[in-house]
Amino acid sequence: MKQIASGELIVVGTGIGLAGNMTASTESIIIQAEKLLYVVADVATAAHLEQLNSTAESIYSLYDESLDRIDTYYKMTECILDHVRAGLKTCAAFYGHPGIFVFPAHEAVLKARTEGYRAEMKAAVSAEDCLFADLGIDPGRVGCQSFEATDFLVYDRIFDPNSLLVLWQVGVIGQIGFRRQFPIGQNIEVLKEALRAHYPADHYVIVYEASVLPVCDPVIRPFRLDKLDPSALSPISTLVVPPLSSRRGPNIDMVRRLDIPERYILKRAEDPSLYDPAKPGALVNWPATV
Ligand SMILES: C[S@@+](CC[C@H](N)C(=O)[O-])C[C@H]1O[C@@H](n2cnc3c(N)ncnc32)[C@H](O)[C@@H]1O
Repeated sequence: MKQIASGELIVVGTGIGLAGNMTASTESIIIQAEKLLYVVADVATAAHLEQLNSTAESIYSLYDESLDRIDTYYKMTECILDHVRAGLKTCAAFYGHPGIFVFPAHEAVLKARTEGYRAEMKAAVSAEDCLFADLGIDPGRVGCQSFEATDFLVYDRIFDPNSLLVLWQVGVIGQIGFRRQFPIGQNIEVLKEALRAHYPADHYVIVYEASVLPVCDPVIRPFRLDKLDPSALSPISTLVVPPLSSRRGPNIDMVRRLDIPERYILKRAEDPSLYDPAKPGALVNWPATV
C-alpha cells in the first residue's frame, strides 16, 4: 500500500469581505493548522487570520512587479508545498472561493497529491455567489456563463447571448504582470467591440462589486454597453451582461423526446422575467433606465 507522507494541505476560502461569511468549519481548520499561509484582499481579514492563528503569514509579498503573474503563482505554490514537505499540517487561505480564479490553490493541491501528501480544498462563498444574491439572479432560469475577461477575448469563447454572461477581472484585461497600481480599465474598448458583435449598443450591462464591509452596500452600476465607462471599474469589478430579451423558444423536438408535458413549456413562456430582463424586478433587480 502507498505510504501517505506526514505533511498535509487544506486549502480554504475566507469568502468575500470581512470574515463574516467564512464558515465555522473553515475557521476551525484555520485555527488548527500548524502553518497558515494566506492571500486576502483586505487588511481586516488579514488581521482576523493573524488573530486566529499565530503562525499566519501572508504570501501576498511574493507578488513582484518584475515577474509575470503566472511565475508568482508558481512561487506561491512552491512556498505552500515547502511547508507541507516539512511535515506540517498546512492551511492555505485565499479570499472568496479558493478554487475560483486562484491558480496556486489548485496547483498546490495537485502537486501535494502527486508527491504523496493528503491534500484537499474546501468550498467557500465567491463573488459570483454574492452576485446572484445581490442582483436577484437565479442561474437556473436562463443559465449562466462565466469567463475570465482576458480569456474570453483571447480564446474567442463561444457563448450564448440569450443566457446570462459574467465576466471576471474586467478591470485588468490583458494584464499578465503585477502592478501595485494597475492601470484599471485598459482595453475595455476592445471588450466593448467584441460584445457589440452580439448585443445592441443600448443593451444594459452592470458593473458589480460585492460589499466588502458590512456597513456598505454592493456597487451595482448599470451602463448602456456603448457607454460603459472604464473609470467605473476597479480590480474587484465583475461585469454582468444580462441575456438578450429576444429569447429563443424551446426546441419542440427535444421537449417531445424528453416526454415533458406541454404545460411546463407554456408556464415558462408566461414568465415575463425570462423574456424581458430589462424590466425592474425581473431576472435582474436593477433600474430599467439609467
Ligand atoms: C483573482 S479573482 C478572485 C476571485 C475569488 N477567488 C472569488 O471566489 O470570488 C479576482 C476577481 O474576482 C472578482 N471579484 C473579487 N472580489 C469581488 C467583489 N467584491 N465583487 C465582485 N467581484 C469580485 C473580480 O472579477 C476580480 O477581478
